[in-house]
Amino acid sequence: MENPPICNYEGSDYQTSFWETGGRAYEDAAEDVALRRLLPPGGKLMLELGAGAGRNTPRYHGFEQVVLVDFSRTQLEQARERLGEDARYRYVAADVYHLPFVAGLFDGATMIRTLHHMAEPRLALEQTRRVLQSGAAFILEYANKQNLKAILRYTLRRQNWNPFSPEPVEFAALNYDFHPSTVRAWLRMSGFSVRRQLTVSHYRIGLLKKIVPLRLLIWMDSIAQLSGNLWQLSPSVFTLNCAIGETPPAQADTFFACPACASPLQDTPPELVCPSCGRAYPVQGGIYDFRLKGG
Ligand SMILES: C[S@@+](CC[C@H](N)C(=O)[O-])C[C@H]1O[C@@H](n2cnc3c(N)ncnc32)[C@H](O)[C@@H]1O
Repeated sequence: MENPPICNYEGSDYQTSFWETGGRAYEDAAEDVALRRLLPPGGKLMLELGAGAGRNTPRYHGFEQVVLVDFSRTQLEQARERLGEDARYRYVAADVYHLPFVAGLFDGATMIRTLHHMAEPRLALEQTRRVLQSGAAFILEYANKQNLKAILRYTLRRQNWNPFSPEPVEFAALNYDFHPSTVRAWLRMSGFSVRRQLTVSHYRIGLLKKIVPLRLLIWMDSIAQLSGNLWQLSPSVFTLNCAIGETPPAQADTFFACPACASPLQDTPPELVCPSCGRAYPVQGGIYDFRLKGG
């Protein structure tokens, strides 16, 4: 398979500039409300895809272990620094399109604010499904092209792309908004059944965030989220999906698999060597590195 392009966050100060000093307290709290509503009460092994600097990781406290996957090593270093030394967390630098795990390993997964960087979203969802057990919960957040602001701009001819049409829109390089019905179709085709939808961040408007007290805005959003199964007009949509179809659970002593040839790997830090293709994957500073060189 040709490697789809990757939106590179290496060296980015995203967590600080976007979340901590970027005036995003409302969006962060609204996402917290959505996650509380959608997360299962508990579980064994959670896969956090595109984990970034671990902003959401503490929210998965019901799971015994969380595996943070991100393509950017520096994002994972920040996550490790923020979350501290904790045996509950494992850090894996890898590409969502080439996940380095055996099939049927996880009983939960999330992908928050990450699908919007995927040029091949369907491929990313299929990879996710492959490493999940049957019945696992998968919480997917995506950026919604059919949001009220886009509809208004399109109606006033301030925007040339159609928010109602099913194809993704790439509004900046490797940044995509998706149509809700298209994402639902991809989920179904990838082996998920869509169980619940929450619309999130309805009031993502600078002026509103300035004049309405934060707690009131979050409360208003938490009410509006509940309309998500009926219509999706917010910029962000959270979906709860269940992995369907038969996937035999991973064998007890297996975990990693070669992202190039899929052979199971022995967990032998500081280096994991594939017995089939001979590729070697280093483990440095507590971070496993499964990024494939040269595609
Ligand atoms: C906008 S950040 C979101 C981080 C985190 N989920 C959050 O909500 O705070 C997107 C993350 O996805 C990661 N990412 C993008 N493409 C990826 C890929 N193909 N494989 C793994 N991670 C990827 C980026 O490195 C980045 O850390």
